[in-house]
Amino acid sequence: MKEILGAKPFFFRQEKYISNEIKKTLISGNLSQGKNIKSFEKKTSKIFNSKFSIAVNSGGTALEICLEAFDVKDKEVLVPTQTFIATANAVVRAGGKPIFCDIDPKTGCIDVNDVKKKINKNTAGVIFVYMFGIIPESTIKIKKLCKKKNIFLLEDASHAHGGAIDKYIVGSIGDAACFSFYATKILTCGEGGLITTNNYNFKKKCSTIMNHGKGSNSSLFVYSGNNFRLTEIQAIIALNQLKYLKKINTHRNKIAKIYQRYLKNNFFYTQIICDKKSKNTFWRYPLYLSEKIDRSALQKICAKKHNFRVTWMYEPLCHQQPVFKKNIKLPKAENSIKRLINLPTHLGVNPSDAIRICKKLDLECKKLYEKYKNIKSIGDR
Ligand SMILES: Cc1ncc(COP(=O)(O)O)c(C=O)c1O
Repeated sequence: MKEILGAKPFFFRQEKYISNEIKKTLISGNLSQGKNIKSFEKKTSKIFNSKFSIAVNSGGTALEICLEAFDVKDKEVLVPTQTFIATANAVVRAGGKPIFCDIDPKTGCIDVNDVKKKINKNTAGVIFVYMFGIIPESTIKIKKLCKKKNIFLLEDASHAHGGAIDKYIVGSIGDAACFSFYATKILTCGEGGLITTNNYNFKKKCSTIMNHGKGSNSSLFVYSGNNFRLTEIQAIIALNQLKYLKKINTHRNKIAKIYQRYLKNNFFYTQIICDKKSKNTFWRYPLYLSEKIDRSALQKICAKKHNFRVTWMYEPLCHQQPVFKKNIKLPKAENSIKRLINLPTHLGVNPSDAIRICKKLDLECKKLYEKYKNIKSIGDR
């Protein structure tokens, strides 16, 4: 049976092209802040519809730089509790206070009503995370709300390279956006990140922080920054990936459509709702399982018997993590995370694999439900 547990990094397929470019760069001796970084920044600013683009060494540092540039020190930043810890950590590292918000289980993204409730005089801004690469209409509601309240909107687009909602393109919706190029992401160069913005002064501040706080006069340092630079070799890999972004997202959408079609809302599953105007990227395909199905048992069976991986993210939620441990209740996120599963959409999964995944899921869910029913009835006696 074909192995579809792991995604083969796409760039392996262009091994020759990449090694030639790396060879040329090594011969040139220019390994940092050279022509590949420039070209990567130029191309990404065009693709993500932003005037400026700054390549950095990770998605986490991209967030940290932006939050420093927004000057969140001693201020509150609203963050969804269901996100990778980096989103919240970046707020703390920039001197701010993350205020965790509930999510809307229909989209997996931050809950607009909870955001409205939590905005106060000390709120500096909101971070919108496009969970799983779903771009919901609520993004635009949050954009309008931030404008009205005069606070910033930062997009965490780590799952959403190439996404859009209506005429709005991810990377240009907020005051700034951050992308990750970590090894498992839609676009990757192993490790890497990107900031996009339309604001020249903000861009200048971010570039300075990214480069030890160095001002335009080369001997003057104007912020206490650090080295957050991406290397030329990483830029070569990332540049090559960019060429395939449309194809990658077309593939992921094709696989997602199969999951949508074959795993109809029924006793076992509830689908996330996708807006008609959304151009999603489906980094992972999300689905809620009936609470009557043992999720961990399903995960083990699918990996062992059927060679595919059922996963879920991010549990425990941020507000429950030891680093934050907030004594608050965010009921919608707490409830839905227990039932969430993610199915793979990467390039190693072809349409026939996706159909097989759906059939095997149905089969194993039925079996697990029968088991649950029997255990229940024994206990009832
Ligand atoms: C939503 C989200 N934000 C931020 C990050 C941080 O990116 P990186 O791992 O490149 O630092 C990730 C990556 O895993 C992520 O998924």
